[in-house]
Amino acid sequence: MSKANEPVLSVTAKDVRRVPAQALVVGVGKAAGGPALIDSPLPPKASAALSGSLALLGVTGAVDQVHRLPGLPEIDAEMLVLVGVGDVSNGVQLSPEALRRAAGSAVRQLAGTGSVALALPAGTVADAAAIAEGALFGAYSYTEHRSSSAASAAPVRDITVITPAADERGLPEALDRARILARAVNSTRTLVNQPPSHLYPETFAAAAREAARGLPVKVTVWDEKKLEREGFGGILGVGKGSSRPPRLVKVEYAPAKAKAKLALVGKGITFDSGGLSLKPAAGMQTMKCDMAGAAVVLNAVLAVAALGLPVKVTSWLCLAENMPSGTAQRPSDVLTMYGGKTVEVLNTDAEGRLVMADGLVAASQEEPDALIDVATLTGAQMIALGNRVSAVMGDEGVRDAVKAAADRAGELFWTMPIPEELRASLDSQVADISNHGERFGGMMTAASFLREFVGESGGSPIPWAHLDIAGPAFNEGAPYGYTPKEGTGVAVRTLVAYAEDVVARSE
Ligand code: BES
Ligand code: MN
Ligand code: ZN
Repeated sequence: MSKANEPVLSVTAKDVRRVPAQALVVGVGKAAGGPALIDSPLPPKASAALSGSLALLGVTGAVDQVHRLPGLPEIDAEMLVLVGVGDVSNGVQLSPEALRRAAGSAVRQLAGTGSVALALPAGTVADAAAIAEGALFGAYSYTEHRSSSAASAAPVRDITVITPAADERGLPEALDRARILARAVNSTRTLVNQPPSHLYPETFAAAAREAARGLPVKVTVWDEKKLEREGFGGILGVGKGSSRPPRLVKVEYAPAKAKAKLALVGKGITFDSGGLSLKPAAGMQTMKCDMAGAAVVLNAVLAVAALGLPVKVTSWLCLAENMPSGTAQRPSDVLTMYGGKTVEVLNTDAEGRLVMADGLVAASQEEPDALIDVATLTGAQMIALGNRVSAVMGDEGVRDAVKAAADRAGELFWTMPIPEELRASLDSQVADISNHGERFGGMMTAASFLREFVGESGGSPIPWAHLDIAGPAFNEGAPYGYTPKEGTGVAVRTLVAYAEDVVARSE
């Protein structure tokens, strides 16, 4: 999403009756006694009449339920929209994430409507910001390759958050943060949605340069010759089968008063056919998403730079296309990775760990305080945690800090172990390690492979966490909340929250 076609976002403390939007959105919850308007901002009479007919209208308050009603004589908006916020029977306040999802769901389902005002319960700056974020995530669509605009309704262009906190001091900054996060999440989605005919290592590197323009970051690109000269055997090995050569991209944000040094590594397989260990057709269908990790670390560093956080962040994008051909690597080939370790490639479909290994070694050389990698690494992640919960593994400290950041950001992550005994399943007859080990718990086996490539700083291992987002990065099902079909942008918010937490802890 380029800045130019982002929706206009504003806030107001005005009386809802006088907000001049086409649609006025009000929340409905599932209360103990049935559906109930949440903090109804409507005039008492209208409120009472509407409350009495909710059940008859089929309004239950269930999450993602949207009902459109004609406007009321008392309000300026042309249409009244009810959005479900889910269970409110326990009397507990709605969480910021519940607000984010309700706002996102309403705005997403109101595509085709020009202007939307949200009258959800936004008593605090944090709640208003969550609503703004959700609305901006919901106002997303990907239409780059449609020849006619008739096929899909245009996303909402004008969003107003109605909140009594409109004049509070922290609000402008919180809204700017929401805009920056939304740009980062939506740009990640767009990169993931890009077809592999158009997005391949070279064009991805160009897109990274373009996205970085105007921000205080430095972009360095390794082409195939430079990768060869410097010995990036993993990235080259995976890229060998493709007519489109691989790339490594480094994006550095180094503010003057940095409190800490963070390195991010992302898996950027622009298409994963499996290589000679070819995937079946069904398994290949979604494999344009296999560069999501690289898109995430790119947009996370750009967001941190846009926020001006005092933390150094360096993102490494490991870009290759995994294809079968006469020049492709073979099962049983041996690669010499960046830094010198050798890997026997027993399965060319376990390619993510090969490109990530090079990236982890390169990132380690700069001795960051923490190293976090993000990858659509294993189908086993989906078996373990499903399509909506991402995994975080690694050293306890960073791992738990990532989980805490995810909780704060409203993203679903769960910590998983890396059992010692899995490492032996990766022993190779001919090389230092093989890329294929124990199938059961395959997500953790993959993590145990990656751990071998995490370097040291001052004699001790660099604190490291590995995020497997294989399922959550790509929504194959129906849209929900603020999440569209296909690219979701998951993990960007968690990484930005992690960087913010690092800064907060240093203060
Ligand atoms: N890109 C896939 C993992 C994946 C699967 C991501 C489904 C998103 C959805 C990865 O490169 C892969 O193919 N992994 C193999 C590893 C196996 C050969 C050890 C897998 O999970 O089957
Ligand atoms: Mn694969
Ligand atoms: Zn892959």
